[in-house]
Amino acid sequence: AESVKVGLLGLGTVGTGVASIITRHQKELQHQIGCPVEIKKVLVRNKQKLRENSFEDELLTEDPQDVLLDDEIDVIVEVIGGVEQTKEWLITALSQQKHVVTANKDLMAIHGATLLEKAAEYGCDLYYEASVAGGIPILRSLSDGLSADRITKIMGIVNGTTNYILTKMSTYGSSYDDVLKQAQELGFAESDPTADVEGLDAARKMAILATLGFSAPVSLDDVKVKGISGISDIDLDYAKRLGYTIKLIGIADRSEGKIDVSVRPTLLPNEHPLSSVHNEYNAVYIHGEAVGETMFYGPGAGSLPTATAVVSDLVTVMKNMRLGINGKSTLAPMNAKQLKANDE
Ligand code: NDP
Ligand code: HSE
Repeated sequence: AESVKVGLLGLGTVGTGVASIITRHQKELQHQIGCPVEIKKVLVRNKQKLRENSFEDELLTEDPQDVLLDDEIDVIVEVIGGVEQTKEWLITALSQQKHVVTANKDLMAIHGATLLEKAAEYGCDLYYEASVAGGIPILRSLSDGLSADRITKIMGIVNGTTNYILTKMSTYGSSYDDVLKQAQELGFAESDPTADVEGLDAARKMAILATLGFSAPVSLDDVKVKGISGISDIDLDYAKRLGYTIKLIGIADRSEGKIDVSVRPTLLPNEHPLSSVHNEYNAVYIHGEAVGETMFYGPGAGSLPTATAVVSDLVTVMKNMRLGINGKSTLAPMNAKQLKANDE
């Protein structure tokens, strides 16, 4: 059968993982979708950069149009980051009848409603599982697995970098600057790590989770945010002596029609299950009126875990292509028009 052709925007931590999974798991992918998956073009900032993976030079381009306007490309995988420019690129891709998979929470937290609306308009898919909690399939769980329930609370650790920093500082007494550097080297941190340490990355994810979970537009401005840059080794030491652990916790609460969302460093008793979520791992509790409490746990950042979520979205798009239902089944249980309020 003819291959499905993918245009990759970005070949950094996540993009490299995506390319690796498509190559290494080609057999599994073909088994699921009935045809080969081929990366046709890859947009990078600098073609000359020394790269570990062995992409043939002719696949790489520095010109976005080479990817976005290539008639043969069926699906655009966006793992480049950025907001306004990237939004325009994805709208161009959708207008060219290309489906989109993205890991970009900055973009989805701000312009998610507009992009979902464009996708619907052009009959295309737009999936963004990797944008929240890396390798944990949390968005699918919220929008599919728990769709019959009324979600009242979402709470957890949704940023890998800060959890890595807090873990290393409290366990080994490592310095804040050293562990932040390690988190950057391991590819967990955002290109500007201020977004991680000041809680903004977690706030974006909580806005996406609350929007999906409560089927109501929750914008970034609605989230009260405090990061971990003010936490010192003395704070961590005191907490430890008293039997507590400090974690950066996001909470989205809905009661009596009111939605409250926040991200802040929180003292948790050592016996609390979130206290034993270490390093870049994330964990999210979802409370539903009928189901009660469910907990999701797994790697929240990093190349292959995040790429697993991205490529799984790709598989969904390809299955939809086979069934001819693209644009009808995106991760958007809510009305995109209603959510557009987010964006305005
Ligand atoms: P990286 O910084 O590692 O990679 C970014 C890639 O995009 C690089 O290949 C870079 O090119 C390319 N790029 C960036 N800007 C441009 C531009 N203007 N034009 C052309 N190419 C460009 O980022 P990550 O892989 O870590 O993250 C990518 C996305 O995934 C972000 O949205 C991030 O928030 C999200 N994400 C990341 C996770 C992680 O664990 N890292 C987890 C979940 C989501 P070049 O190689 O030439 O520099
Ligand atoms: N910088 C993010 C984190 C990447 O540390 O959680 C995953 O979204």
